[in-house]
Amino acid sequence: MAYNLLKGKKGIIFGALNADSIAWKTAERIHEEGGEFVLTNAPIAMRMGQINELAEKTNSEIIPADATSIEDLENLVTKSMEILGGKIDFVLHAIGMSVNVRKGRAYTDQKYDWTAKGWDVSALSFHKTMQVLYQKDAMNEWGSIVALTYMAAQRVFPDYNDMADNKAYLESIARSFGYFFGRDKKVRVNTISQSPTMTTAGQGVKGFDNFMHYADAMAPLGNATAEECADYTVTLFSDLTKKVTLQNLFHDGGFSNMGISTQVMELFDADKK
Ligand SMILES: NC(=O)c1ccc[n+]([C@@H]2O[C@H](COP(=O)([O-])OP(=O)(O)OC[C@H]3O[C@@H](n4cnc5c(N)ncnc54)[C@H](O)[C@@H]3O)[C@@H](O)[C@H]2O)c1
Repeated sequence: MAYNLLKGKKGIIFGALNADSIAWKTAERIHEEGGEFVLTNAPIAMRMGQINELAEKTNSEIIPADATSIEDLENLVTKSMEILGGKIDFVLHAIGMSVNVRKGRAYTDQKYDWTAKGWDVSALSFHKTMQVLYQKDAMNEWGSIVALTYMAAQRVFPDYNDMADNKAYLESIARSFGYFFGRDKKVRVNTISQSPTMTTAGQGVKGFDNFMHYADAMAPLGNATAEECADYTVTLFSDLTKKVTLQNLFHDGGFSNMGISTQVMELFDADKK
């Protein structure tokens, strides 16, 4: 159901790789709610070609940008304002990648060049994006910036590897930059801490299937889907959440506040063994 919550709002969406991507579902929902946007992804991701399908479906243009390159980000922001005909109301940062995870390198045996690369892509890119938007004065007042994160920033999930540290850094950037963006431009900055979700990035984590089942059995409302994450992001881009800022918002069916659930307890029931 659409409510026209984003009618007249213009934005930039990072990270739609394929139809499983959280950013892809979010772009579809924003389009339904009347928002207009530019889609962007790393030049290498463009080669897969699937983003063209999303652009066509949502009447949007694509501007390739490596989110670690200031030059690319400057070009992205300038061109987006030209295409959209003015300043920007919303930005979604849905980017994550760890070379150590990809290449199967354990947390206790990091290759630090890879650690630094993953940090640049997954965390520092959020600072770079906001710094370019801030310095170009590209955001409208009461605009909203959201990045996606995961609870491994607060608690230990061994197979999340160095992405846990990247997410902790990302969440800190949201608070630190969010202060200046709020004070100087009346723009809010938040992170959404999403349930495990079956996407290309998600599936890169070892044992992801089992982990998804565990999280689902722990959460009183079950795991939040990518579509539900898209719905939540729409609310944060709408005028209904104007004073929500500097927050890390858990969108996980209640998982983050659980100790144990009866469903998981039953798996350890001694009488059943
Ligand atoms: N899938 C999950 O379980 C889950 C849970 C919580 C949070 N998240 C976060 O959600 C976000 C989106 O991930 P997803 O699960 O939709 O997976 P995804 O693989 O569909 O998206 C990751 C995106 O990052 C992009 N990217 C990588 N390097 C880039 C670069 N240098 N410049 C620009 N873009 C680059 C990829 O091309 C891809 O589009 C990530 O921040 C991820 O950590 C995912």
